[in-house]
Order: sequence, then C-alpha cells, then structure tokens
Amino acid sequence: MAKPSHATWGGRFTAGPADLMLQFSESVSFDCRLAPFDIAGSKAHSAMLAHVGLITARERDAIHAGLDTILAQIAAGKFTWDTKLEDVHMNIEQALTKRVPAAAKLHTARSRNDQVATDMRLWFKFAGAVLRKKILGAERALLAAAEANRDILIPGYTHLQRAQPVPLAHHLFAWLEMLDRDRARFADVAAHANWCPLGSGALAGTTLPIDREFTAKALGFVDAKGRPQVTQNSMDTVADRDLFIEFAAACALFGVHLSRMAEDLILWSSAEFKFVELPDAFCTGSSLMPQKKNPDSCELLRGKSARLQGNLHTLLTLVKGLPLTYNRDLQEDKPPVFDSFDQSALCADVVAGTLAGLVFNRERCAAAVRDPALLATDLADYLVLRGVPFRDAHHAVGAVVRLAEQNSVALDQLSAEDVNKIHPAFGPDWADVFDLKRALAKRAGTGMPGPAPVAKQFARWKKALA
Ligand code: ARG
Repeated sequence: MAKPSHATWGGRFTAGPADLMLQFSESVSFDCRLAPFDIAGSKAHSAMLAHVGLITARERDAIHAGLDTILAQIAAGKFTWDTKLEDVHMNIEQALTKRVPAAAKLHTARSRNDQVATDMRLWFKFAGAVLRKKILGAERALLAAAEANRDILIPGYTHLQRAQPVPLAHHLFAWLEMLDRDRARFADVAAHANWCPLGSGALAGTTLPIDREFTAKALGFVDAKGRPQVTQNSMDTVADRDLFIEFAAACALFGVHLSRMAEDLILWSSAEFKFVELPDAFCTGSSLMPQKKNPDSCELLRGKSARLQGNLHTLLTLVKGLPLTYNRDLQEDKPPVFDSFDQSALCADVVAGTLAGLVFNRERCAAAVRDPALLATDLADYLVLRGVPFRDAHHAVGAVVRLAEQNSVALDQLSAEDVNKIHPAFGPDWADVFDLKRALAKRAGTGMPGPAPVAKQFARWKKALA
C-alpha cells in the first residue's frame, strides 16, 4: 500500500511508512513536552541565520512571530499534535511552514540530531532547577522538624540494634546531608548540560557560514562571565547521552536517599518503636482492618526508588552497544528521564509534606534512650582515661554488661564494688558515666552529636536553607 510520505524527509521516498510503522516510530506522544525548548532553540537558530545573512531580518521576524503563535496555541491546549509527523520537531516545523513560508528556511544548517540534543540540554537545565527547588522545600521541612523537636534524644542504631544516644536533630541532619548532596548533584548536571549542540548538524556540522557562539549566547549556554559555551566535537554531540544517564543517576540516588529515610520513618511509626506519628494526610487505612493506619507515603517513596533505578538501568543499556553517532534507538532516551523527573518531583513534594506533619512521641523516645547500655562505650572510655588500653577496657565493660544481664538489672544498677571486682580501674564515680546529658556534652567535636556541634549545625543549615 503505497502512501505518499507526510514527513519532511519524504523526498527520496516513493511510499510513505506503514500505519504500524508510524505508530511504532512516533515520539510526539512523549516529546511534545519539549515544545517550549524546541521553539526557543528555533528562535535562537533563526536569529543566528539572520545574523550571518542566511535569511533576512524579515524572514527571521516572520519565523519568530509564527513560533510565538504556535507556542501560545500549545500552552492553551489548542495545538493538534499529529503522530504521523513523528516528533515534536516536525510537528512544530510543519505547523510553522503552513503559516510562514519563510519557515522552509528554518532547518538550514540544522539537523534533528543537534536539535534534539539542544532541546534536551535546555530541558535538563530546567528540570535540574525545578528539582533543586523542590528538594530545598524538603530540606526546609527537615530543618523545621529538627527545630520543633530540638530537645528529643533517641537511640542511634547500627545493625538495627540500639547503639548510642543521639539528638533526634542529629539523625534528621544526617538525612539533610543526603538531600543537600542531591541538590548539589542536580546543580552539577545542569552545569554539565550548559553547552550548546547547535551547529553540530547531523554529525559533521555544516558547510554554511554559521555562528555557533551567537546561538549559544541566545540560548543562555554561557559561563559565569557570559561567554558562550559550545560543544567541541560534532560527532560526540549528537551521540552523547551522558547527561541523560547523569540525570537519571542523580534521580536514582535521590530515590535511594528517600527510600532510606522512609524506611526509618516506617520503623519509627510502628507500634514496636512508636517514636513518631505520621500525618493522617499521608497515610491510608486498610479496607479490612479498621484499626490500621498504614505509612503509605513512606512505602511508596521506597517503592518509587526501584522505578528510578530502573530508568537509569534502561538508559545505560540503551546506550551501551551503540556505534557512533546518532541511532534511532536514542529516541527511547526520553521516556525514562521524563519519568525520573516526574517521579522525583512528586517524591520531593511528598517527602516534604510527610516531614512537615511528623509528631514525635517524647515519652517513647525518652524511654528508649534511657537504656544505660547505650553508654557502655562511654564506660570503656572512662577506663581509657584511667590508663586502661581500649581493648582491655572493651573486654572489661563486656564483662560488666554480662554481669548485669546475669543479675537481670540495668547496667547502671550494679554496685561500684561489683564492677571494681571486674576491673580495678572502676572507681566509686563509675556510674556518673550514665548521666545522658553529660555523656552528650562530651561529644563536642566537629560532626558529633553533642549540644555544641549540633547547635553549630542548626546555625549552618538555617543559613544555607534561608
Ligand atoms: N525524535 C528523534 C529522537 O528523539 C529526533 C531525532 C531524529 N533523528 C533522526 N536522524 N531520525 O531521537
């Protein structure tokens, strides 16, 4: 069934693609979201063409006016996307050509290969900025939770066993460090995106006298001093998908961080811990068990992280065996990054909402952290300060712990005589170690959970997140 081709590339074809092929090869259903970036790219490109004299100023103005109209139509939902025209680029170019004859000159010295690379670099800069803002929102919610619960102490855990006491704020600040690295990572991705592909053509540039720096400047691909940044190898430019992978990796790691935070919250909200009450607004009930309040937002944060990792894996596999330069496989690069963006954006908002509604249970936290065994290490340090080598001190405290367990008493309920029998360096003041306040005050070094360093972290975060 020979049908004429609608496509811009139809010249050398006697028959158009089969309907099945059109359905198979279209990308406009997902790349239409690139429209604002595609139009910005076309405006800059046509401005450059006029600048070097390849089109007239009149033609440029007509193209610009046409593109503005199309952008307004798209924004108003009045633009009809045609899957027969494959992708966002050809849809917009054909719509433009219908209203502006000069648009037939728009694709001069340009290929869809450098065009789509440009659209995506603009998109990565945009997407990075959006996610950075949302992550900042989550960070602020964390800081607020730390402030509202500044006096609460909890056990810190290793191996999910109670280990040592820490201020809740110190634990929340650990999450904050993770999120702040994520925010920085998206800034790095945006900085890597900040190089203009236009002028690379299909793979080998163009014979026409273009001005790549002009286009780069017009699109904001400039360094801190406003100097244009253009990509340095035309073949790499159209084949490179590193940014897709970097972006998806940043999203995947963000997801992993959220998943670990969510796991802490799920544990803390269980009846076994009961350190925290999650906000009703981010939980759901059971259709069967009337008493249930399930930590669904946290569970979904944990679940979404799998999806974000999957998207990264899709991209790594997509690119791995491809010969240089562009291959149509690369069209499959967009759904995973768009999905990673959408899901990461949602996750950032949901975690911020969940954090904002946390209500900590002071009694339960206090009861958990009261366990004197959490200060067994401090007891070893007590011996170290009395000249006992740490390995011997560790052993002696181990024997003290064993004795308390044998006698079924808390560690601090043993008598000074009992412990002195275990090691002569234990003096009558040995039980002072179990003063929690004192124990934390001694953790005064940088990065430690004592009141002084934690106060410093409060000050640091307040400034950084203001
Ligand atoms: N829709 C295509 C993509 O996203 C645009 C580039 C097409 N280039 C080509 N040589 N067919 O990859």
